[in-house]
Amino acid sequence: MEVVILDDARDLASVAADAITALLARKPDAVLGLATGSSPLAVYDELTARHGRGEVSFAQARAFTLDEYVGLPAGHPERYRTVIDRDFVTRVDFAPDAVRGPDGLADDIPASCAAYEQAIADAGGVDLQILGIGSVGHIAFNEPGSSFASRTRIKTLTRQTRLDNARFFDGDVDQVPTHCLTQGLGTIMAARHVVLLATGASKAEAVHQLVEGPVSALWPATILQHHPHATVLLDPAAAGRL
Ligand code: GLP
Repeated sequence: MEVVILDDARDLASVAADAITALLARKPDAVLGLATGSSPLAVYDELTARHGRGEVSFAQARAFTLDEYVGLPAGHPERYRTVIDRDFVTRVDFAPDAVRGPDGLADDIPASCAAYEQAIADAGGVDLQILGIGSVGHIAFNEPGSSFASRTRIKTLTRQTRLDNARFFDGDVDQVPTHCLTQGLGTIMAARHVVLLATGASKAEAVHQLVEGPVSALWPATILQHHPHATVLLDPAAAGRL
């Protein structure tokens, strides 16, 4: 695992955007893994700016998102599909239908999750996966106790994750869905390059476990210690316990 401590979120975004820009220059039809949450927002802003200057194109690229709340209606502003479209996908030149995400409104959730895994495989797998990390050490929505071999499936959100995400739901934890669909740790580990971003002191303990702790399902992100090409980008506060 490559751990890089940088001055601030803008520098993290620049390094992550460099990795994506270089990948697309080498492989214009690359498959990207996109994350929601606040951590990658500066990356998407940087890529949008570069796209505006003609420095990067997503016209041939495809992308898969990590996770989705179960049951939020199609027009809900915090549905992850709505969020990623708003924050990134519609601001650059992805082709229609080039970006897919787990379907939190599927009638048959197991079949829908299996079809999602198959779609990722049919695309040739993910070349570069952007990740954040939760304060409980989750990646995507793989909460503590998740199997390292897991694939896309339904999960129950922990109380802490729902509290962490209440800020997106008028500060009201009761509005945060109780369940989600999430790529599994096995799905994420199959990506060829993983770039995880973490900023702020609230991530310091999870980052400490990620980098220095034993590999344990209690801190799901620690499985990345076994990934052949994982890059961890930190600001000084997130690195504060290393
Ligand atoms: C969220 C998402 C994750 C995200 C993490 C951290 O709940 N499901 O994909 O990486 O928790 O979020 P943030 O970047 O907003 O701190």
